[in-house]
Amino acid sequence: MKITIMTDTQFGNGKMLAETLKGEFSGNNDVKIADVKDVSAETIAKELPDLLIIGGAIRAFRGGPKSKKWLKKFNDALKKSGKKIKFGTGFLTHALPTNKVHGFAKKYLDKIKNSSMIESSYSELLTARVQGLKGPFFPEEVEKAIAYAQDINKWLSE
Ligand SMILES: Cc1cc2nc3c(=O)[nH]c(=O)nc-3n(C[C@H](O)[C@H](O)[C@H](O)COP(=O)(O)O)c2cc1C
Repeated sequence: MKITIMTDTQFGNGKMLAETLKGEFSGNNDVKIADVKDVSAETIAKELPDLLIIGGAIRAFRGGPKSKKWLKKFNDALKKSGKKIKFGTGFLTHALPTNKVHGFAKKYLDKIKNSSMIESSYSELLTARVQGLKGPFFPEEVEKAIAYAQDINKWLSE
């Protein structure tokens, strides 16, 4: 399976999370990690991954605006080509306590769910809290990410 994990990272935490998720996918998968600032949505749409994981960060009380824009472009590019991808999910990194980010997570997940060219979206978004503004992650957040990737694996094999 072709898996693409996109990040919008400033201090490297999003990249680290992407690497952690990658580590839980079996070696049979072809996993690519890229940043929305470096690789265009059109490029990834051409590659037609089976699963897109679109990562972002909450900054200035906005939940992954760059990633959401990238996702819209990705969906538009797929529309042009007339080809859908099978699976989608995502993550948001943040500094606020987890119980303060549910609203951001819901809106962000809704963007994925409402992407017409993604056939099936996972029911939950991964959120991961960094210490301070720059990180690193709280250790339990890395555990949560590993469990999340394992759930995704189960979902993909259903
Ligand atoms: C300018 C700025 C504003 C931020 N605002 C918020 C915020 O409103 N809420 C929040 O939870 N975290 C906020 N953060 C923390 C970021 O979420 C955190 O830096 C990011 O998730 C770390 O991931 P990264 O290393 O991949 O960029 C802010 C960080 C910066 C640099």
